[in-house]
Amino acid sequence: MARFPFPIPVGWFHVAFDADIEPASIHPMNLFGRELALWRAEDGELCLQDRYCPHLGGNFAVGGQVVGQTLECPFHKWRFATDGQVAEIPYAKKLNRSACVRYRTLVDVCLLTSSAPIDEETVVQHFHVSYRNPEDDARIHRIGQAFDAEVNRQFREDIAIWESKIYQPDPQLCDGDGPVGKYRNWAKQFYFEAV
Ligand code: FES
Repeated sequence: MARFPFPIPVGWFHVAFDADIEPASIHPMNLFGRELALWRAEDGELCLQDRYCPHLGGNFAVGGQVVGQTLECPFHKWRFATDGQVAEIPYAKKLNRSACVRYRTLVDVCLLTSSAPIDEETVVQHFHVSYRNPEDDARIHRIGQAFDAEVNRQFREDIAIWESKIYQPDPQLCDGDGPVGKYRNWAKQFYFEAV
């Protein structure tokens, strides 16, 4: 139960000393009952915004970086301008349109992931990589093994992101994201309580 029956008022508040916020720095802050990130663009402009990315919940204050006049999310590298608008999506042709992407390389590779919950907060995750090489071609083995190593590298790199991110219930998606909404709807059937 809240200790005070009134909300946080609108007004001017001291959140930091100007000299403590270097250009191109990001500072996590808990203020106004929210988790925020204070960052300064390279030209000196200051911005206080939500700490979690509107795309899929990446934490700007853990692995994010300031690039010029934008704040880059550590997860899929979307960049946001100081007015909070998306400025750049590295893999999208247009902003906020849905589409599918397929993975295809020189080698016919299959990537299968599976996870099992240990408890409500923790899962054990497996990645299975297989590739076709009926003629036992050494080059195909090298490519297949390089793919396997890359999957492992990317997964390990994402661990810090997964541990600090939130679930974004209403993600802002772009045309390169694939059918995230469809997938989430499909997954809902496995939960007894609403998600
Ligand atoms: S979660 Fe931020 S770019 Fe995807």
